[in-house]
Amino acid sequence: MAIETSCDETSVSIVENGKVIRSNVVSSQIETHQRYGGVVPEVASRKHVESITWMLQEAVEEAGVALSDLSAIAVTQGPGLVGSLLVGVVAGKALACALELPLIGVHHIAGHIYANQLVHELEYPLIALVVSGGHTELIHMEGPGQFRIIGRTRDDAAGEAYDKVARAMGLPYPGGPHVDRLAQEADHEITMPRAWLEADSYDFSFSGLKSAVLNVVNQSKMRGEAVQTAQIAKGFQESVIDVLVEKASRAVREFGAKQLLLAGGVAANKGLRSRLAERCEQLGVPLLVPPLSLCTDNAAMIASAAFLKWDKQEFDSLDLKAEPLLKL
Ligand code: KG4
Ligand code: ZN
Repeated sequence: MAIETSCDETSVSIVENGKVIRSNVVSSQIETHQRYGGVVPEVASRKHVESITWMLQEAVEEAGVALSDLSAIAVTQGPGLVGSLLVGVVAGKALACALELPLIGVHHIAGHIYANQLVHELEYPLIALVVSGGHTELIHMEGPGQFRIIGRTRDDAAGEAYDKVARAMGLPYPGGPHVDRLAQEADHEITMPRAWLEADSYDFSFSGLKSAVLNVVNQSKMRGEAVQTAQIAKGFQESVIDVLVEKASRAVREFGAKQLLLAGGVAANKGLRSRLAERCEQLGVPLLVPPLSLCTDNAAMIASAAFLKWDKQEFDSLDLKAEPLLKL
């Protein structure tokens, strides 16, 4: 059984042998946070407390198993919002203690990456592009569980930039899916800048792009003109995708990767999926992407990553602490 409560989704899942999803119950708090235009940490942790008990029950019932059938309890240890993480960590520890089962703390990003293992066979070395609301990272993996971050965002995460740009255009939280939809509908784009950084760098930067979008939006408003949301969305999305695709494919070539793996909430982006698929075909390297339901936060991906540790019998003690800044 795995528990995920790092941000604004409470999720409990039961996975067999790290591969077969018996249940993956997700309760999203999006509607609650929409009122505030983003996640309010205090509200998020309270919501996790309200949901966790019935969700544990539902996950067990849906899987058709008894608590005595479980072999380990996995939980997201970090990174994330500390008040949210604490709810899952405490629930996981209580279950592990009461059922006398091993406890396995999991890194949230390892979870996003290993969401792919629920549906694909991973081949190493591989390059993982993790793009979510809190992360934008390029990771080189020589083998299972071996994560080497070769590039990361220097400011906003890709998903964060999507959410901020959407908010400026009056779109609801989370903005990613709305910007994605508008970008698909646009007939032309308002060209936006691209932050390539140093020639050999795998790092990213999205705050300049975000400011460029805000400028265009504000100028339209000041002139009393209608904001061209679809054209701006397309310009923004093309800029994000160009940089992600270029840097990810350069890493695939440099490290001789056998696969490119896409993970995190922004992996749900239609434009990004299709452009990466095209590029991977040119490179002759398979692109692995999880199904949409496993892109955004869920506990099945945590169970999948936990299975690596289960294999090596790497367990945690009941002293396990929620780590908001946990390193991969
Ligand atoms: O992985 P996730 O569920 O939570 C974090 O760990 O951050 O990712 C959520 C992020 C949000 O910023 C959301 O706007 C973005 O993923 N997202 C998208 C799309 N669907 C979700 N961004 C772009 N296009 C999408 N279709
Ligand atoms: Zn996530």
